[in-house]
Amino acid sequence: MNNARFITFEGIDGAGKSTHVEAVAQRLRRDGAHVVTTREPGGTRLAERVRDIFLHEAADVMTETLLAFAARRDHLRQVILPALDQGRTVVCDRFTDATFAYQGAGGGAPPDLLDHLERFVHDGLQPNLTFWFDLAPEVAARRRSEFRMADRFEQREPSFFGRVRAGYLARMVATPDRFARIDAALDRAAVWAQIDAALKGRGW
Ligand code: TYD
Repeated sequence: MNNARFITFEGIDGAGKSTHVEAVAQRLRRDGAHVVTTREPGGTRLAERVRDIFLHEAADVMTETLLAFAARRDHLRQVILPALDQGRTVVCDRFTDATFAYQGAGGGAPPDLLDHLERFVHDGLQPNLTFWFDLAPEVAARRRSEFRMADRFEQREPSFFGRVRAGYLARMVATPDRFARIDAALDRAAVWAQIDAALKGRGW
C-alpha cells in the first residue's frame, strides 16, 4: 500500500473536529501527498442518501447500526479502498468508531452485532490514525447551542453524550496506538498544535 494512509476524525457533536479535517488534508498535501477527504455517513451517492435518512428519520438503534454499516460498505468499496490501493491518503470525518460510540455505547446496540459488522464490512481494515476530539458533554452542548440547529443526534441529552464519550474512550483503550486524543477544550491554535504533533510523531 506504499504511502497510503487512512486517517479518521471522531468525537461528540460540538467537539470541533470538522474545521480541522481540511487543515490536515492541506498540511499533508503541502508535503506532496495525494489526499482524499470524505465523511461518514456519506462519501458516495448511495451513502449520502443513507445519511439523509440516518440523520432525519427516527429508527431503532439496530436499524441505525445497519444503515451506518450499509453506507460504510458502499463508501469502502467505491472510495476508501480504491484510494488506498492507489497510494492516496484518505482523511475521513467519522468512521466505525462512531458507530461503536453512538449506536453501541450511546444507544445500546449489542456489542456482538457491532463486532460482526465491523469484521464483515471492513475485514481487518482500520485507520492508521484516529484523532479523537475529547470534550466534556456539557461544554460540547454549550458550543452546539451557540452556533447551529441540532439534528436528531445533536438533540440527545447530556447523559447520552457521556456514554458516547465513554464509548470512544473504550475504543482508544482497546487500540491505543491507533489513537491521538485531542484535548478539544483548548482554543483552535492549541488544538492544531496537538494535531500537528501527532502527525510529526508518526513522521508525517
Ligand atoms: P457529523 O457529520 O459529524 O455531524 P455534522 O455534520 O453536524 O458535523 O455526524 C453526523 C451525526 O451522525 C453525528 O451526530 C454522529 C452520528 N453518527 C452516528 O450516530 N453513527 C455513525 O456511525 C456515524 C458515522 C455518525
